[in-house]
Amino acid sequence: MLFKHSIILCFLTSVFGVSIKTEPHKPRVCVIGAGIAGLNSAYYLKEAGLNFTVLEGTQYVGGTWRYDPRVGTDEFGVPIHTSMYKHLRTNLPKQTMQLSGFPMPDDYRSFETWKRFYEYLKSYAKKFDLEKYMKFNHLVESVKREENSWKVKSKNLKTGEYVMDDCDFVFVGTGHHHTPNMPNFPGEELFNGTIIHSHDFRDTVPFEGRRVLVVGRGPSGLDISVDIAYVSKKLVHSHHSKTKVGTPFPDNFVEKPDVARFTENGAYFTDGSFEELDDVVYCTGFKTALPFLDESSGLTMGSRYVYPLHHYMVNINQPTMVLLGFVELACTVTTIGAQARYAVALATGNFTLPSKEDMMAKWQARADSIKEKGRPMSDILVIGEKENEYYEDISNESGTYKIPPVIYSMRDVDQQSMMENWYTFREYEYQLIDDHTFSRCLQDPNSKTPCVQKIHGQ
Ligand SMILES: Cc1cc2nc3c(=O)[nH]c(=O)nc-3n(C[C@H](O)[C@H](O)[C@H](O)COP(=O)(O)OP(=O)(O)OC[C@H]3O[C@@H](n4cnc5c(N)ncnc54)[C@H](O)[C@@H]3O)c2cc1C
Ligand SMILES: *[C@@H]1O[C@H](CO)[C@@H](O)[C@H](O)[C@H]1NC(C)=O
Ligand SMILES: *[C@@H]1O[C@H](CO)[C@@H](O)[C@H](O)[C@H]1NC(C)=O
Ligand SMILES: *[C@@H]1O[C@H](CO)[C@@H](O)[C@H](O)[C@H]1NC(C)=O
Ligand SMILES: *[C@@H]1O[C@H](CO)[C@@H](O)[C@H](O)[C@H]1NC(C)=O
Repeated sequence: MLFKHSIILCFLTSVFGVSIKTEPHKPRVCVIGAGIAGLNSAYYLKEAGLNFTVLEGTQYVGGTWRYDPRVGTDEFGVPIHTSMYKHLRTNLPKQTMQLSGFPMPDDYRSFETWKRFYEYLKSYAKKFDLEKYMKFNHLVESVKREENSWKVKSKNLKTGEYVMDDCDFVFVGTGHHHTPNMPNFPGEELFNGTIIHSHDFRDTVPFEGRRVLVVGRGPSGLDISVDIAYVSKKLVHSHHSKTKVGTPFPDNFVEKPDVARFTENGAYFTDGSFEELDDVVYCTGFKTALPFLDESSGLTMGSRYVYPLHHYMVNINQPTMVLLGFVELACTVTTIGAQARYAVALATGNFTLPSKEDMMAKWQARADSIKEKGRPMSDILVIGEKENEYYEDISNESGTYKIPPVIYSMRDVDQQSMMENWYTFREYEYQLIDDHTFSRCLQDPNSKTPCVQKIHGQ
């Protein structure tokens, strides 16, 4: 009898021993934000069968792609997140802005309106039934590292109640184009006209027949100044960009160097010239605001940077936290997709990260080279011409699918034609041929013969 029992007992423990080893603890993941980063994460997390939740401050998916006519704060007193404006069309061809496994409809042009891109994002959420993993109107107020897990505290904006979530991994997908970076020019307080940031620019109507100054020449600076110049009496574009733009600007369009100081009715520029002005739009970029993080995250946060991150995403000091989409000068949507896939592979345990020392050494080398060049620390987010190498790097490390080089080639060619002519670069239609090649053509609106395809990448 005794003998029999012990055999059974022995058998049971070995079964349990094996079952514990073959079925590792499945981590719980908290995703913050239901923009492209949150949507993409949800897609891969669902596929991997992990336990996860997406906390979204608004009642919508799509993040910055949902146009909201309001500026300032919403019905809950929370700052409006979106920076979308009414006339926006994408500045990258659609093939570089697609979500994995879900091509944009065939009748979509290469450069679509925000509205159609937003529709596309909503249909993605619907098709893969992602909304059931999302808690809307849940604004994350704090994320703390305590006792080997992340304590995520969000506020249910509808009830005012606080909700605590305990998570093994945190994916931060809150975007970094929502908190204005304001310049601080002398005499601003004297200026009699209106001053807004591009975050609050919605439509050109308020600028009809006025003398408008746009400051900054990033993509928004050019887009918004060209847009306003159609209706304004005068458009003064102040910037210090050295990149030549071949665009033939209209007669009411004047370029100026940096603002030196404002007066009651206008501004002096660093070349000593003066312009009378009614309105000012600052297209001076955004801050990398992560107000819900504290020192327990191990991250250093400046107004336009956050570090140290491995591959622009994994928090080196707390590698169960991943920041998605905190990159500049890249096909952001494609990058976020590749990052989300990497992050889910990490949470699944499909690969292990390099040692902290190795990740730190690699990050430090990049930080040092930025300093050596005398560049600002915000460059730490810039992928730029390293985009293809980046995709190769994260794919090599995680064993995930590699984004083909044609994606970066398309961005490269798009960027060039943007600088050649801001008024026409969106008229090209792009066609993907294979992983290395694409073609594009510019249809002359006055011609009936189809345009000639130019092949790139051969
Ligand atoms: C005007 C504009 C034009 C752009 N044009 C292009 C383009 O043509 N092509 C391109 O590839 N990229 C473009 N971008 C870049 C754009 O940022 C990315 O395409 C992409 O939308 C980033 O997605 P995201 O999910 O990281 O962030 P977001 O879209 O900003 O989404 C973040 C989400 O997080 C939520 N959130 C924020 N804080 C909290 C919190 N504390 N708690 C809970 N939820 C929170 C927000 O409500 C939002 O839904 C553009 C950006 C802007 C602003
Ligand atoms: C997911 O995690 C939450 C919080 O730990 C838990 O309450 C829930 O039961 C889990 N769900 C599944 C399907 O394991
Ligand atoms: C300031 O604005 C008011 C109202 O728009 C206008 O009447 C006034 O002339 C302006 N003053 C200057 C110095 O431009
Ligand atoms: C993890 O690895 C398995 C087995 O190779 C694979 O099927 C799965 O897609 C991987 N998951 C991710 C998120 O890469
Ligand atoms: C990725 O792996 C391949 C094959 O091992 C290698 O040739 C390539 O150099 C690696 N890429 C990077 C960016 O490390």
